[in-house]
Amino acid sequence: PASAHRSDAGAITIGGISAPDLAARFGTPLYVVDETDARTRAAELRAAFDTEFARIGTTVKVYYAAKAFLSTEIARWMVDAGLNIDVCSGGELAVALAAGVAPARIGFHGNNKSRTEIDEATRVGVGTIILDSPIEIVRVAEAARRHNTVQNVRLRVNSGVHAHTHEFLATSHEDQKFGVVFEDAPSLVAAIRAESSLNFLGLHCHIGSQIFGVDGFAESASRLLSLHAELLTGGPVPELNLGGGFGIAYTSVDDPSPVADLAAGLADIVAAECARRGIPLPVIAIEPGRVIIGPAGVTLYEVGTIKPVRVGDNTRLYVSVDGGMSDNARPALYGAEFSVRLADRVTDAPPALVRLAGKHCESGDIVVDADYLPGDVAPGDLVMVPATGAYCWSLASNYNYLGRPAVVAVADGEARVIVRGETIEDLLARDTGVSTSSTSGV
Ligand code: LLP
Repeated sequence: PASAHRSDAGAITIGGISAPDLAARFGTPLYVVDETDARTRAAELRAAFDTEFARIGTTVKVYYAAKAFLSTEIARWMVDAGLNIDVCSGGELAVALAAGVAPARIGFHGNNKSRTEIDEATRVGVGTIILDSPIEIVRVAEAARRHNTVQNVRLRVNSGVHAHTHEFLATSHEDQKFGVVFEDAPSLVAAIRAESSLNFLGLHCHIGSQIFGVDGFAESASRLLSLHAELLTGGPVPELNLGGGFGIAYTSVDDPSPVADLAAGLADIVAAECARRGIPLPVIAIEPGRVIIGPAGVTLYEVGTIKPVRVGDNTRLYVSVDGGMSDNARPALYGAEFSVRLADRVTDAPPALVRLAGKHCESGDIVVDADYLPGDVAPGDLVMVPATGAYCWSLASNYNYLGRPAVVAVADGEARVIVRGETIEDLLARDTGVSTSSTSGV
């Protein structure tokens, strides 16, 4: 995060608090979120998109993709910054509502929303539901009728552009579970328009995540606007949702486009495509998650064991920490790369190539595949893995009965727990076979 730096004493400080202080107060592993940084990223992203879309003559609605990292606090930071909240399950909806987010600011996603979820979303009056299949048109229309309401909906289409990580490739026949087939959209929109309990807002498309350049978004926006223009012949289409997916730097080789450049590039393509087709500019919606919260979070671990392993002519130091794939599944799931830094002190020791391993019982339990730490790294040292704010806590598990770590928010030299860590008592409490009698087994 922006505030992370080395203090005079050599320890890394985040939000004005030193890493050793945080570890001493809250234990390790620990997720630390820099509140100021998260709020600033949200506000700056919104300002960049506001500015660029105002330049072309329309407005933009920014939804924070809550799947990246959601707690009631984080939801409130996003709303304070003028963002809406995008949820994709009844659980995420419940957290957003518990945070006091106005239902009208919530967008509800999912390729298999349950009847209960649809019922709840229409009952509380979420701002939009993103329809993901023909079946949902009927289900949502029926639920809205039951609650005597008219539900705003978007239709998620598959634009055939599938952007993944650094490149994008276009295929005419996408084979994936999200959205409806591009060519089917006109008849499905007609079906939506025929339902008096539904109000069609426009199309939605999300092409992927951790995308660095504007090309994939531009290609998708251009295809969507051709469909959008076609739909205008049958009635109003006030909005167009371009999804999320803006990438961040996890290591020094990552080079994502700055948010301001993405905003400018997207505004240009939307303006050009609308002008070319002679159609009015829609209100644009976007749903970024990672780019807002990813860089704002770090994970602190304590080093436990260190083992030199000979690899050919070289030696690799396996540095094992007190967490791992249960608090950061991304390396194991996606081969994702992270970096590591010594967080408690500075030293003149020459750098050593290390692999930061977790404590779980499998060899794929690696947090950082390859990076350098000072060669005198020792048990008891504290290390920091940056850029763990997105899709780490939200993907956490209890593998090997590790409790999920606490989340601490830091700002201006103050730290407070925003989600407490799980204890073994929490985990045992769900096991119905645990005896409640203290004399058992004696
Ligand atoms: N909108 C929709 C419909 C999405 O499915 C997603 C992410 C987003 C927005 C937000 O994307 P973002 O701006 O955060 O890239 N667990 C994976 C990422 C999965 C993304 C799922 N959908 C990871 O850790 O890389």
